[in-house]
Amino acid sequence: MGVEMKLHGWISMVISMAIICLSPCFCLETNVGSCNLYEGSWLLDQSYPLYDSSTCPHIRMEFNCLKYGRVDKEYLKYRWQPSNCNLPRFDGKSFLTKYRGKKIMFIGDSVSLNQWQSFMCLLHSSVPEARIIEKGGEPITNVTFLDYDVSVIVFHTTHLVDIEVEKIGRVLKLDSLKHGELWKTMDVLVFNTWLWWYRTGPKQPWDYIQIGNKIVKDMDRMEAFDLALITWANWVNTEVDTTKTKVFLQGISPQHYHGAQWHEPAVTNCANEKTPIGGSSSSQGLPKAQYVLESAFQKVTKPAHLFNITALSALRKDGHPSSHNGFHGMDCTHWCVAGVPDTWNSILYASIMN
Ligand SMILES: *[C@@H]1O[C@H](CO)[C@@H](O)[C@H](O)[C@H]1NC(C)=O
Ligand SMILES: *[C@@H]1O[C@H](CO)[C@@H](O)[C@H](O)[C@H]1NC(C)=O
Repeated sequence: MGVEMKLHGWISMVISMAIICLSPCFCLETNVGSCNLYEGSWLLDQSYPLYDSSTCPHIRMEFNCLKYGRVDKEYLKYRWQPSNCNLPRFDGKSFLTKYRGKKIMFIGDSVSLNQWQSFMCLLHSSVPEARIIEKGGEPITNVTFLDYDVSVIVFHTTHLVDIEVEKIGRVLKLDSLKHGELWKTMDVLVFNTWLWWYRTGPKQPWDYIQIGNKIVKDMDRMEAFDLALITWANWVNTEVDTTKTKVFLQGISPQHYHGAQWHEPAVTNCANEKTPIGGSSSSQGLPKAQYVLESAFQKVTKPAHLFNITALSALRKDGHPSSHNGFHGMDCTHWCVAGVPDTWNSILYASIMN
């Protein structure tokens, strides 16, 4: 009896180990060494894209490439293949069921909006008939799936830290994060910022920078970015209950304005690019801001996730709207929807579902 029990226990242990080793979820959970979801390559897969963008009611003119005249379609057919495990297919129904009663928020600049729109399209394609309420406005757009009581929210902020209008003008406050009070009530937070840090002239949305009691007219922008991220890291450490709220900091979303990045003449930009750069994400150089971001992220002492999409996206010189958008400017910054952000969301999905 005792021996049989032991044997039985041993067999079930072997079986469960086999299941654990075969299950992609295990790889995702550990996300270490042999199975890093962010390392891999892009493969053509005729079952892609994950949805037909013409049926998605949530795509703004900036990202709706097919509607605005993009005729090549191969860019829709690339699937991200991690080197050592498989990425599960995004399943909107499973997400809504598992996140019943919960709230997910994308916080940041227009790249966050870009990702939120892809997330909405992925959900819409799974539950096209679902009843939703959408409340738009600045800085929040909030879509609630009534039958599941799930809210998917985008919070627009250029710098994460505050910009306040004072007597002297607009002040960028590198050590203040007032909206954090709302953010920390969410169940999943996905942060992203960079695009606005290097802007100057009329595109710069502040007049002064404040650090503690010191006010300056300007400073090294990379240093300002670093200080703001450290403020953010301290906020996570002191304010966020990471047993309830999952925290992601997104890596820099790469741009493709300079062909030299992919060994073409420097004047080349993303226009007319129809295929990704070949090879693996590990061959990609990273933007300098990514190193600053990664080192600031190391100051987070609580469990949080570096959403490290920089290198895998750097391969996708074909993924941008270029001139196929509703404002006809050249855009090698944002991404077509459907497109690369669907992969970001598939990785996010994999990371929050277990
Ligand atoms: C989003 O909308 C839902 C449903 O109307 C509401 O209950 C929730 O408080 C809203 N969340 C935010 C952050 O605005
Ligand atoms: C993020 O990905 C890049 C490129 O693959 C890698 O060099 C870097 O170490 C990764 N960062 C972290 C914190 O895993």
